[in-house]
Formats: sequence, C-alpha cells, structure tokens
Amino acid sequence: MCGIVGYVGRRGGSAGQEARYNGHSALDVVLEGLRRLEYRGYDSAGVAVITANGIESRKKSGKLTNLISELQARPLPESLTGIGHTRWATHGGPTDRNAHPHLADGGRLAVIHNGIIENFAELKHELAAKGFEFASETDTEVAAALIGDLFRGAAEGDLAKAMQLACQRLEGAFTLLAIHQEQPDVVVAARRNSPLVVGLGEGENFLGSDVSGFIDFTRRAVELGQDQIVTITAESFEITDFHGRPAQGREFKVDWDAAAAEKGGFASFMEKEINDQPEAVAQTLLGRAGLDGKLELDELRIDPSLLKAVDKIIVLACGTSAYAGQVAKYAIEHWCRIPVEVELSHEFRYRDPIVDANTLIVAISQSGETMDTLMAVRYAQEQGAKVLAICNTNGSTIPREADAVLYTHAGPEIAVASTKAFLAQITAAYLLGLYLAQLRGNLFSGQIRDILADLGKVPAKIQAILDDADRIKKLARSMSDARSVLFLGRHVGFPVAMEGALKLKELAYIHAEGFAAGELKHGPIALIEEGQPVFVIVPSPRGRNSLHAKVVSNIQEIRARGAKTVVIAEEGDTAVQAYAEHVFYIPETPVLLAPLLATVPLQIFACELATAKGYDVDQPRNLAKSVTVE
Ligand code: F6R
Repeated sequence: MCGIVGYVGRRGGSAGQEARYNGHSALDVVLEGLRRLEYRGYDSAGVAVITANGIESRKKSGKLTNLISELQARPLPESLTGIGHTRWATHGGPTDRNAHPHLADGGRLAVIHNGIIENFAELKHELAAKGFEFASETDTEVAAALIGDLFRGAAEGDLAKAMQLACQRLEGAFTLLAIHQEQPDVVVAARRNSPLVVGLGEGENFLGSDVSGFIDFTRRAVELGQDQIVTITAESFEITDFHGRPAQGREFKVDWDAAAAEKGGFASFMEKEINDQPEAVAQTLLGRAGLDGKLELDELRIDPSLLKAVDKIIVLACGTSAYAGQVAKYAIEHWCRIPVEVELSHEFRYRDPIVDANTLIVAISQSGETMDTLMAVRYAQEQGAKVLAICNTNGSTIPREADAVLYTHAGPEIAVASTKAFLAQITAAYLLGLYLAQLRGNLFSGQIRDILADLGKVPAKIQAILDDADRIKKLARSMSDARSVLFLGRHVGFPVAMEGALKLKELAYIHAEGFAAGELKHGPIALIEEGQPVFVIVPSPRGRNSLHAKVVSNIQEIRARGAKTVVIAEEGDTAVQAYAEHVFYIPETPVLLAPLLATVPLQIFACELATAKGYDVDQPRNLAKSVTVE
C-alpha cells in the first residue's frame, strides 16, 4: 500500500552540479523504482528532487503514466537526490492536491508517507494554531509540517533530528521519507509498522518500500527494525532509533533478479505469474527434502522440541493467503492430527482467542507486510504463542518478527491479485505439515517420501494445464457479459471455489461467490435460476472416501434448476460429462494436492474474462498489493 522510493547518488558538491552519478540521475532512478512499485497503489504518483534551485516537485492523480506525461510537459532539472511515491489513498481522495510529496518549511522540505498517522487531527489543530496552512486533506501534510517546524526549531536545521523528534509525536503506522534543500545530500527515512528497505550501491544508496524499488541497481539490501530511522547519503547509511541511539539493520542479498520482475513477453504480469506457477511450486520444494526423502527444514530457526509440543495450530492470514491456509488445514490435520483453525487476521485479535505457549501460529503472507496479519502476529506473541511465518518477501516485517520462517520461493509477485504466491503458500504449508508429522512421528518416512514424490510431480501437471489453456480462455471470452458466477467445491475444493470467486471479483468486477457444495441446499440454491453460470470443482472419483458422487448429485440439483455448469474434474472422470455444459480436466493427483491444479483453470478464466472486458488485470480498481493499513 503506497510505494516509496528514495535515492542519493552524490558525495559533496552543491545541488545541481554533477547531475549524474554512476550514470544515474535521481529522477531516473526514482521513476524506475516507482514503475516497479506501482502495484502497491496507483491512485496518484509524485516525485521531489533537490536541484540547484531548491526542491522541485511534480505530482499527478491517477497512474504513473500521468506523472510521466506531466514530467514531459514540465521537465525537472537533473538532480542527485530524490524521492518518489505511488499512492493508495487513505486520508483524502485520489486528487492532485492530495498526491505526495507534500512540501513544508516554505517549500524547502518534501515528505512522502505510507501508512496512517492516527493522531493527525490533533497535530493538525496544534500546527494550525501556530499559523500553518494546509493545502490537502492528508495526514502526510501534517507530518511534513511537523518535521518542518521541528527542523526550524528544536532540531536546529538537522533533518535526521527533526525526523526523530517528529516520530516521537506520531502515532499509527508510517514510513516517512524526507529531503530538505539545506541538506541536499541526504534522504532521511523512518519506519513504524510500515515497510522500508535500504539498498546499498557503490557511491549511491537507495530506499524502497521493498527491494523492487531498487532491484535494477543493486542486490545488496538492509532491512530495518521497528521504530528506526535511517539517513542515507551516497556513501553511507546510518540507523538510529527514534531517540537518536545507534541501531543495527540486517543486510541480505536479494536472490531474484530484475528480469523476474518483468513481464517476460506476456501481456500482463498476471498472465506471466499464472505461467510462472510450475516454477513457483518447484522452487518452493527445492532443497527441502533430502535424498532419503527426509524433510530438512533447519532454516526454520526454531527449536524442534517446541514444534513437537504444539497442541493447536492457528493459521492467520487474509484474502487469498487465508484460502491457502484453509486448504492446508485439511492436510495438516490429516497428517499431524493437530487441530488447525484458520482465522482472518483482522478478526483474530478482537475476539479474545484462546492461545498459549503450545499454540503454533502460522502467519501466511505473500508480502510479509499485511498490517492486519502483523498486528495479529504481535497479539499472539503477547499471549505466549510461537509464530511461524510463511512468506514470499525477504526483508519484510512479518518474517522478521516471527519466531520461525518458511519462505515460499515464488519470486516477485507484481500483479495485485495473487496467483503464484497462492500455490507456493499451499506448497510451503504442506511442507510444514509433513515436517510436523515427521517430527512427531505421525507418518512413516515412506509415507512422507511418497507425498513428497507426488508434490514433485505437481509442477509438470500445472504445466500441462497451462499448455491446454485455449478452451478455458475461449469460454471466458464468451462469458464476458455474465453478471454473476457461482463456484462450488467440497473438502479442499471449497477454498479453491472461494479463491476462484475472489479472482473473478477482483479482476473482472463480476459478482462471484464460492460455496461449500454441501451447503447449497441450506440456502444458496435459491440463487440458481435459468442460465446462472456455476463452476463446480469435482473431487477425484478414486479412493474409498471420495466425495465425487455427492458433488455430482449437487451438479444435478442445480442443473435441474437451470444452472449452466462448468466442471473442473480429474482426467478420466467421464461420468461428469452428462451433467456439464463444459468440462475442464486436470491431471490425476492425490486429493489433498488437487488444489494446486484445480485453481489454475479458475485463474486463467478470471484473467482472460477481465482482459476481454478491457480491464487492467495487473492493477484492478480500488485495490493495492500489500495492505499496510488496518
Ligand atoms: C487477492 C490478494 C489478497 C491478498 C491479501 C493478503 O488476490 O492478493 O487477498 O492475498 O491481501 O496479502 P498478503 O499475502 O501479502 O498478506
């Protein structure tokens, strides 16, 4: 939520001289960072740079392209220090006026912000009483005015000091970046509960909401802790707490390259990421099982005896990640015989949950920054629970604060709606389930080896679905006028149905709901009328406890009432053909692994239908990736 970039590429000299360092001008670097971070918010974009004439800024509502047109119409002089922002609106609508940066101290200071300053009304009142006039409705402008006021007052012209003093007064969640024309060679940044990473270059340094903000320029990064301030110059970075006491960051190497965050010949990131899924699952499995089939998860950095003692698991997550948790619940309970609850993070801490030292919290988050999940994690830790994060983003807050981490290696997910992270999360959660079963002796090593072998075959099976995508795409194009689509599934197919519905809502803005097929007769069947499209995820007919017959009965029930049924079934399941307008087959796989396959046609369907309607599938309206506000 909101993308933030900062850059300094110069040592000494006065503003406006040596306008390119290492071949970069600040504006180029900042715009490149914003391009990569735009997925975090696209209500407006803006930049500020320090030039020989002082701070100059451009900002524009709407997507980054609007800002670029503005910069073409009103170019900025070259500069070596700059900040940039791409916004997901919270306080104040998505207008030019509310776009960041916000200026203060008579236009000599520029500030950008991600998060929400909860006491902004009180501060605004105080500053207004001192004679400050505000041009926007944002909380950010209040922070800028406060920093400017302190810069002139108690901080005596020291920007880092002004930031420290301001942060001592601010409540809520924020990443703030500030530049001041009287200190043209520094960018000062602060973070509390919002993401910020430092990028280390040679004679230039960077700041970004995440590493994609500077991935084109360096792979060396430093993650910051909670309530820290960093001051970067071209040659140095210095971290302190909010009181100026020295603090440490953790340096890490970014293990994906810039090409991984490009479209790679696909029309959209969404399409690319759907096609990345065989690799995302394969990478998540890679190196985690020994040749003997034993799982090696030493990377978890948690005492195995703690995991052995666990008597309850609570999965905390939001949206698609929560659906991954719901899928994992079936497998973990089956393999480990530990009760698993799956709870939306934002509900969890407001209901007095029962959590103790033997509860394992599994926090699933692609971004590692979702505020609802972060707050739930902290709450659970306060109650004595251990937290294990399943996360896709190195350097992010949730894995840093968790007691243990299992990274999904899906690579950068840029499209706002999650696809490959979902499959990687299920894969990682399955590895965790198998590891717990191994530690606790719930499964024999041969059983674990067999399941891992089946998981190992999943990437090729996903590829087979991708190679045969034309029919589902054709169906999607033919359904672009649909007003409502329902999804039914049972057992692990139920969260898959909900995920299929979510993708369609997010991408194509079509009303869609996922139901448990067994629940149909308890209410939702009333929705069925002539022509209502219903996707049904049909379980494999193989196996003693197969729910196949029950779901096929459900199809008959809705068909009898006029539904147009689209069935996702296992190869060889010819029985369903009699009851479906369209059947899409997925390769045979054990029941618990089927979500890794059955989800894929639903993603392709939503992506293609939204594309047919002319929508931007990478940046759906009103959404942002990484929801860093509660
Ligand atoms: C849906 C989607 C969201 C996220 C949710 C959690 O396509 O992407 O529902 O899954 O906002 O985000 P993370 O996993 O980053 O915590």
